[in-house]
Amino acid sequence: MEKLMIAGGYPLKGTVRVSGAKNSAVALIPATILADSPVTIEGLPDISDVRILKGLLEEIGGKVHITENDMTVDPSTMISMPLPNGKVKKLRASYYLMGAMLGRFKKAVIGLPGGCHLGPRPIDQHIKGFEALGAKVSNEQGAIYLRADELKGARIYLDVVSVGATINIMLAAVRAKGRTIIENAAKEPEIIDVATLLTNMGAKIKGAGTDIIRIDGVDTLHGCRHTIIPDRIEAGTYIILGAAVGEGVIIDNVIPQHLESLIAKLREMGVIVETKDDQVYVHSVPKMKAVDIKTLVYPGFPTDLQQPLTSLLTKSEGTSMVTDTIYSARFKHTDELRRMNASIKVEGRTAVIHGPVKLTGAKVKASDLRAGAALVVAGLMADGVTEVTGLEHIDRGYSHMVEKLNGLGATIWRESLTQEEIEQTKNA
Ligand code: EPU
Repeated sequence: MEKLMIAGGYPLKGTVRVSGAKNSAVALIPATILADSPVTIEGLPDISDVRILKGLLEEIGGKVHITENDMTVDPSTMISMPLPNGKVKKLRASYYLMGAMLGRFKKAVIGLPGGCHLGPRPIDQHIKGFEALGAKVSNEQGAIYLRADELKGARIYLDVVSVGATINIMLAAVRAKGRTIIENAAKEPEIIDVATLLTNMGAKIKGAGTDIIRIDGVDTLHGCRHTIIPDRIEAGTYIILGAAVGEGVIIDNVIPQHLESLIAKLREMGVIVETKDDQVYVHSVPKMKAVDIKTLVYPGFPTDLQQPLTSLLTKSEGTSMVTDTIYSARFKHTDELRRMNASIKVEGRTAVIHGPVKLTGAKVKASDLRAGAALVVAGLMADGVTEVTGLEHIDRGYSHMVEKLNGLGATIWRESLTQEEIEQTKNA
């Protein structure tokens, strides 16, 4: 087990290249199950979630080959093997195996997913969708059992705008009989990416990226090549870092339109941000204004960037308020930021941040993926050395973060945990 060591106070400069989108990757990989011949996905991020999904596809008999960042999956030998335990519990996105296996085999047994603890994360809308398509769904000893004699297209209205439910229902519906209409669908770029892959495989999908998606089922899907979109949350994290300690940072391989809400907020704070084609340039300023943020579904401000932005707001002059309307408990990073001298109070779903303060290095723990990103931002802003444990969360979603940051001039490295620290982790 390792921890991250960050020597703060060094300015960042230069160019960083963004990897493929984690939240697309974790849906694109299960989507390959639906094809009858090999599918290649190009530009995947080198993160543990991708490696776990590779293992899961192999467990159900798939042949998976990775070269650099490209993955080729031959799904022709897959069988509907039950996956009630094990790797499925390590990531939230294992729920996409439900939609994909149901779509291909008309049956699946998948353990309830793991992932970051951000408050209650039910999957009732996924299940409502599967049932509407004709599946019988039951929860037995922590695993979801799905079975259908036949899947039939249906009109499904999502009561909650959900990225996961929208994608999962698309996966189950592309090989169903007849037309499925998903109303009140989520509009995130990752949904368009998954729809693009499925369309390249022969699916008939219209309206991805709007709140009504129409799917006309087909009997079979075939292999294809697909290039994943850049990770807007990784890009946003580096943009925030550039705003915090950047003396001219270029974030390369970005779709700037995916980040309009973040860029607008940073400009409101006074940060210098310029965009062109597939790059964003960002430069820090000595004084930043406090701002209020409310996370919303896309194209609103993403909940996944709320945590790293909170670290930056400790530098702003005045009182900022960050309200998370998507998750009720995505504020564990604030306890750790307080150890670093931040002045933050959490009231219900809102964090109230008073600034400016000078952060100081401390021993802190990442409780989830984006909390980890928030602590990295804070560590690079702080005086002294910050030690971040809980690195396994960061490794789930940030490809080569240490190398990328050192490439920008940061002083950051990984160290093995001492025996005492390992014991503390176990007791925490
Ligand atoms: N919800 C329900 N019922 C459902 C599904 C969702 O009540 O059946 C609620 C959730 O509890 C939450 C809200 O609806 O309050 C939105 O959840 P959504 O389903 O959209 O989230 P998700 O699909 O589980 C994905 C990303 C998250 C990201 C959210 C919101 C993946 C694997 N995860 O989660 O990413 O925060 O969308 O944009 O795509 C991250 O990358 O750090 C991360 C947590």
